[in-house]
Amino acid sequence: MQSDRQKVLAALGPSHADLSLHLLHETDSTNLRLKEGCRAGIYTAPCLMIAESQTSGRGRLGRAFISPSGTGLYMSLLCRPETPWSPGKITLLAAVAVCLAIEEMTGLRPKIKWVNDLFLRGRKICGILAEGAGEQVIVGIGVNLKTPPGGFPDTAGIAGALDVPLDRLSLAGAIARHFLDGLRQLHHPDILRLYRARMPLIGREITFLEKGQQKNARVTGVDEDGGLMIVTDEGPQVLRSGEVSLGSASFSGLE
Ligand code: BTN
Repeated sequence: MQSDRQKVLAALGPSHADLSLHLLHETDSTNLRLKEGCRAGIYTAPCLMIAESQTSGRGRLGRAFISPSGTGLYMSLLCRPETPWSPGKITLLAAVAVCLAIEEMTGLRPKIKWVNDLFLRGRKICGILAEGAGEQVIVGIGVNLKTPPGGFPDTAGIAGALDVPLDRLSLAGAIARHFLDGLRQLHHPDILRLYRARMPLIGREITFLEKGQQKNARVTGVDEDGGLMIVTDEGPQVLRSGEVSLGSASFSGLE
């Protein structure tokens, strides 16, 4: 029988043998552990940390990412891109890597909601948080594998799970492989092509907040750095961060 470490490494494949792997039972946040460890010189890229549970999982915009044991995959990759990079492009690559890994292991096809959420059957099944650490970047990925017995405690009511039989550690290895493969050719047009093909927002009417004001726009595309290209009454614009919404019927288009 394969050990936990062997499961990750088998799915990672032979071309990333320089990766150091850390499997934790419980931690506060794998992103935070790597950030602090990297500052203290304990961890160097490329490095993958996976925890069975997190007590202070971090999401975007200062939100918490609830990370109980037994129902999710919580992993962070510390890497040092060899070509110029932006947080947007790294996040975009991570979203593609998670989609490709889920597709190859389950046949399911998640959709990407700009910029960093993956949806399946109209529900959010994965979140991604990229954080800079000097010249390095930490990419945190949380995937909901199973719906917890009492349901998800999210107030927005959008959380869902893959809910198919799947080995958590093999999925982590496959995600890391797709991500690290992509990082070696970060500016290859295929990455953007794979992202756009999984992004149903293109061509849709959305709303977004700008300086506290709600605005309407139509999405025209995604640029090289993962910026959302939109057209409002005032003309074309590129959104680099924040969140967009499809309105009240909201996530039904993201199945
Ligand atoms: C989001 O949905 O806003 C992003 C969620 C990112 C969660 C992952 S779980 C592993 C890593 N460690 C963290 O504390 N956060 C990321």
